[in-house]
Amino acid sequence: MMFLLLFFINFSSSSSPAPKTSIVFTTLGRSRYQFDIYTLPISAAQSSSYNSNHHHQELKITDGVSVNFNGHFPSNSTSIFAAPSSTIQLVYITERNGVSNIYFDSVKNNLDNSLSGPKSRSALELWDTGRVQIPLLRVDPRNQGRVSMKDRPSLVGEHVIYVSTHENSGAGRASWAAVYSTNIATGSTRRLTPRGVSDFSPAVSPSGVFTAVASYGGKGWDGDVEELRTDIYVFLSRDGSERVKVVEHGGWPCWVDDRTFYFHRKDDVDGWWSVYKGILPRVGRVNTEFVVVERVTPPGLHVFTPATSPNNDEFIVVATRRPGSDYRQIELFDLKNKEFRQVTRPISPRTHHFNPFVSPDGSRVGYHKCQGRDPILLLENLANAEPEISLFRIDGSFPSFSPTGDRIAYLENLDSGFLYVVDHDGSNKKLVHKGAAFTTAWDPIRKGVVYTSVGPNFASERTKVDIISIDVEDQELSYKKLTYGGENNAFPSPSPDGKWIVFRSGRSGHKNLYIMDAEKGEMGSIQRLTKGPWSDTMCNWSPDGEWIAFASDRDNPGGGSFQVFMIRPNGTGLHKVIQSGSGGRANHPWFSPDGKRIVFTSDYAGVSAEPISNPHHYQPYGEIFIANVDGSDIRRLTHNSYEDGTPTWGPMFISPENIAQPTIQPKCMFDDCHWLNILGVNSVNASSIGAQC
Ligand SMILES: *[C@@H]1O[C@H](CO)[C@@H](O)[C@H](O)[C@H]1NC(C)=O
Ligand SMILES: *[C@@H]1O[C@H](CO)[C@@H](O)[C@H](O)[C@H]1NC(C)=O
Ligand SMILES: *[C@@H]1O[C@H](CO)[C@@H](O)[C@H](O)[C@H]1NC(C)=O
Repeated sequence: MMFLLLFFINFSSSSSPAPKTSIVFTTLGRSRYQFDIYTLPISAAQSSSYNSNHHHQELKITDGVSVNFNGHFPSNSTSIFAAPSSTIQLVYITERNGVSNIYFDSVKNNLDNSLSGPKSRSALELWDTGRVQIPLLRVDPRNQGRVSMKDRPSLVGEHVIYVSTHENSGAGRASWAAVYSTNIATGSTRRLTPRGVSDFSPAVSPSGVFTAVASYGGKGWDGDVEELRTDIYVFLSRDGSERVKVVEHGGWPCWVDDRTFYFHRKDDVDGWWSVYKGILPRVGRVNTEFVVVERVTPPGLHVFTPATSPNNDEFIVVATRRPGSDYRQIELFDLKNKEFRQVTRPISPRTHHFNPFVSPDGSRVGYHKCQGRDPILLLENLANAEPEISLFRIDGSFPSFSPTGDRIAYLENLDSGFLYVVDHDGSNKKLVHKGAAFTTAWDPIRKGVVYTSVGPNFASERTKVDIISIDVEDQELSYKKLTYGGENNAFPSPSPDGKWIVFRSGRSGHKNLYIMDAEKGEMGSIQRLTKGPWSDTMCNWSPDGEWIAFASDRDNPGGGSFQVFMIRPNGTGLHKVIQSGSGGRANHPWFSPDGKRIVFTSDYAGVSAEPISNPHHYQPYGEIFIANVDGSDIRRLTHNSYEDGTPTWGPMFISPENIAQPTIQPKCMFDDCHWLNILGVNSVNASSIGAQC
């Protein structure tokens, strides 16, 4: 007994638990949108009188609470869930508490009987009485291996086949996305993607025998953020064997039958995203030489993310971006007459619609679109694998914690740049600076003093940006200018004694680091810390004052690649701590309150989904990681296909709950992929391929 007790004491003292803390980061646009899955009868789009009066035929089939997207209608003959024919069955991705899972829903459908006119019965009543929800995977957010992104599920008999990011690829800048098959009855899971390879956008053939994916094969991601330049591979759904490359350059496959599939690619010649058809040989060898590929949709508009009706090669359903329209719409493409028919535009012309899918009998199309979340979350809690870290997404950017960790300064968004401070529970929100600004930091000694840099973000060395400090406790919000020259002076970070500020400045013609007096600014004193024809930026001073962490492209100046370095405030001890693959990005380092670790954003895990399947993200690879200050023990905190960045680490454990905020701002205001605004060349007259309504 005595012995055991001693042993226990020994054990606990040798591995002191990490203190409980909080990390807050930003995700571009994400807190302003939330998705739900909707469906429409295909017959509606095929009817010649289809117009906005048919809006009652659109049925929302997910719960309106979670973030629900990328659905699939399972074939009723293979579904293990017996359901009456009056229900719509759906398999889809749902994000709850920041973690994604695959759900099966069965929703009562009494709208199909109402084709003649709107019914007064409310949709809510429908859900209350008629929804069955079953999670298909056992997701334990406290289990490191299970915090992950899930994507593109298909239900095939007793198995669900899907993308998951739960396994570390083991190499920097290599995606963790791989395809798995889970037996829903037993929970047993098999990886179908070979080790060392990443696969996206799986689609299972109607017989269930084959799965097609978009993959680099062994090549690996080279930093693409628009089209991934993947190839299409096919393998046996059973075990991933007999894997062959069938198409060079293609993504988002979908099957009509076991030898015919469609996919998208950006055409090499005219630059329009278009849908193509691939036909596998009836017998014999399958590889790229033996597969017949033909273009299906014409140039003049972007057409992508195709969906097929199994064993029915008469139409496909696609997402489009037409020249002159800012909105992504779902359209049906009649393969015989080579004609588009509008599906979603008549109903919601000013909404983006994503990633269509068709029911096995070809009678319904599904897709997701934004459902205005009410209210918007100021802080969205994300379950994560580190029990001592409370993790939040903030509705803003460049957050930082007050010295005690109970207040947060942040910028409302990159465009307006309004600077707010708010208590950790969402109360006492106060606007403290108007006008373009970026980065925030609190003075560790002078209560209520917040530093920021005023001017545009992502700008050249000579752009007018200067550092100010604001007294947020002061009624008048008095502020002090600390730099004057406007040579892109930014990323102020105070020393723990409150005497100095480290910041980056473009005053030499290159962005390098400088240290100045925290109270008198550069007029007090200024000293150059780094020097070279490259960019050193995003600096953060360690809590013990010994180190400054920063991001730099000094290994390949101007090449777009950044790594995390550390240097002593006296200019000695420079060393690299985080390198993401070769030519990767690791940015925005911030020390943990105990100074033992850093949090940062990086492309260390590549991209997790085809970017075209999401709203716009400049850097869809951005995920939040933590590591020891020596760069060891890199751990991934976020798993999604969004752009996560500007993390900060505070000394208080904020209760892991969502914090809502009252807002009068419009919801669902987000951009479709900016690069779809670019028209292809050989732009045949877009109006000549206009769709019929
Ligand atoms: C599956 O759905 C189709 C079309 O709705 C129907 O004809 C068929 O009877 C259904 N099969 C089963 C096994 O429920
Ligand atoms: C720089 O600081 C370190 C740590 O305080 C110290 O050991 C070293 O001697 C200093 N070097 C110079 C050149 O001041
Ligand atoms: C496109 O077609 C319309 C109508 O046929 C015509 O008025 C217009 O000039 C054409 N534009 C181009 C660029 O060919």
